[in-house]
Amino acid sequence: MLRKPVVLITGAGGEIGHGLITRLAEDGTHSVITLDVRPLEPGIARLVQREFVGSILDTDVLERILSEYEVDHVFHLAALLSTRSEFTPMTAHHVNVEGTINLLEFAQKQGESHGRPVVFMYPSSIAAYGLPDVESKMRVGRVTENEWTKPTTMYGCNKLYCEHMGRYYAKRYKQLAAETLSGKVDFRSLRFPGLISAVTIPSGGTSDYAPEMIHAVAQGKPYACFVRPDTRIPFMAMPDGVEALLKLAAAPKGNLNHTVYNVGAFNPSADEIRQVVLEAFPGSEITYSVDVKRQGIVDAWPADVDDTAARRDWGFAPQYDFKRAFSEYLIPTIRRRYQK
Ligand code: SER
Repeated sequence: MLRKPVVLITGAGGEIGHGLITRLAEDGTHSVITLDVRPLEPGIARLVQREFVGSILDTDVLERILSEYEVDHVFHLAALLSTRSEFTPMTAHHVNVEGTINLLEFAQKQGESHGRPVVFMYPSSIAAYGLPDVESKMRVGRVTENEWTKPTTMYGCNKLYCEHMGRYYAKRYKQLAAETLSGKVDFRSLRFPGLISAVTIPSGGTSDYAPEMIHAVAQGKPYACFVRPDTRIPFMAMPDGVEALLKLAAAPKGNLNHTVYNVGAFNPSADEIRQVVLEAFPGSEITYSVDVKRQGIVDAWPADVDDTAARRDWGFAPQYDFKRAFSEYLIPTIRRRYQK
């Protein structure tokens, strides 16, 4: 009996998963199977071929998927985000690191069994960076992939380590190729900035102040922003994030000079976001109530990223700048969502 060729998405019920599943369903080119600890929302569940409810730490469920499906792409999205990981660092390590090595092993076995490399897409993060203080952060500005990689959070350490592990899997098995195995994990990673979606609300991240602000105000609720007005980090609208994942996944291997790529789109301060949101929803209440720990996390993240390599190697080109992201995507979509 032949197994069916599919794309596997872990953490499929999260924000990126939502956008990715919707986008793949529109394309209609890939059958999708998912793995998430929680059942998917019905609107998303009906777009996938098979939904596994379980943990990436459960190797039995991964073996079951291996026996039934021929996976040629893995989008490994499951993770505990940065703020949440600080509350339970050991759990974060288990899920973010051990979960990832389970998936890398899974991809290697998949590739061995069907004979082709498995494209392994791994969303990393600006949390992989760590600037020593706000003065250095503002002085340094745009960072390239190989500088300032001294993460200050468990999540950031996990992401950076898994980037290395992915490269190890891709390279190690290549070196052994002549003997028994051949490299079957085609690992590709994006360092995402804060992602802002109009259709889902994040939970447990530290860049969440931007999306939270917009979603709260659109519902007529007051919002107290947990970082200072001058806080600046890079962001991206979710459709561009999903597009970047798909574009990097489809890029010819020979064009890729790196395993990890920065991607960014705009980098407003918290107060610049507040102004745009207030213009769209006049009379709303957005105040500041700084959370010292979360402020410390974003203060260590870069003010901007240099994504020249992504633009050059695989044609990364975000469609939404700051103005367009708000005027054409976030504000109208969110407005419609809460008017329903
Ligand atoms: N948006 C994520 C977070 O805030 C960063 O990858 O944790």
